[in-house]
Amino acid sequence: MADTRVTLGGVELKNPVIPASGTFGYGYEFARLYDINCLGALSFKGTTWEPRFGNPTPRIAECTAGLINSVGLQNPGVEKVIAEELPKLQACFGGPIIANISGFSIEQYADTAALLDKEEGVAILEINVSCPNVSHGGMSFGTQPDMAARVTAAVKEVTKKPVYIKLTPNVADIVAIAKACEEAGADGISMINTLLGMRVDLRTRRPVVANKMGGFSGPAILPVALRMVWQVYEAVRIPIIGMGGVSRAEDVIEMMLCGAAAVQVGAANLVDPFACQKIVADLPTVMEKYGIENLKDIIGGAHHG
Ligand code: SIN
Repeated sequence: MADTRVTLGGVELKNPVIPASGTFGYGYEFARLYDINCLGALSFKGTTWEPRFGNPTPRIAECTAGLINSVGLQNPGVEKVIAEELPKLQACFGGPIIANISGFSIEQYADTAALLDKEEGVAILEINVSCPNVSHGGMSFGTQPDMAARVTAAVKEVTKKPVYIKLTPNVADIVAIAKACEEAGADGISMINTLLGMRVDLRTRRPVVANKMGGFSGPAILPVALRMVWQVYEAVRIPIIGMGGVSRAEDVIEMMLCGAAAVQVGAANLVDPFACQKIVADLPTVMEKYGIENLKDIIGGAHHG
């Protein structure tokens, strides 16, 4: 029988499929559609110290094989997330919960992480230094190795939970940033966030999204994500959660062969809310088709010929 179990450091997942932050709310919204306990883990909506209303609308632009979002980290703030959203998620999901954290200063990252560190229900902290949709903070912490390392070190200081740093692809050398995070104590890397992009409306001759630019995701970016996971896997020893354009069980396997220990599914949830459920259901059949008995065995397999 196909063994789909994987581990992220010490955290056991029944399968590698994880809805990506920002595409699955706080999880309980999707529990109305299907039993989300089929998921390997769940990364909830990016959470900040203060509540955020997000960017002006329109925030979404459709593209060939993907979409651009410019949500701007809309969320109710960490205190409300802990008091209201987390209990609702825990009431319908027994698997590992990944708390996705964004910030506008190193102190905010650390303070938000310190509060979520106290939550027993949170298994992993995913530190987003890669949001392209805010004018300061967000991605600016993830485009330079020393800044990414400073955020990593500050968060590690306030938590005993595993810390995964979520990286942006909008850099010249993602390997240098991943290595800096590892050296600063990161327990793992999440990659990749969205690619900075834009669209123009031919009738108005103006950018489609109000913020002009946004993060491009969807099946079109899978090859970019695979390439970057491949490169980072060769350079670091910590586990990688791979993401970017994953929409099928075959993509999960491809991502793991490049080096991902688990895989997040993002834009696909916005196209089909049942996407993760379908990927989980398809995994054993696809594993059998390609002669895979145990998913743990294939991590980084494409590197070894
Ligand atoms: C957003 O809320 O703007 C998306 C978050 C992200 O891309 O990191």
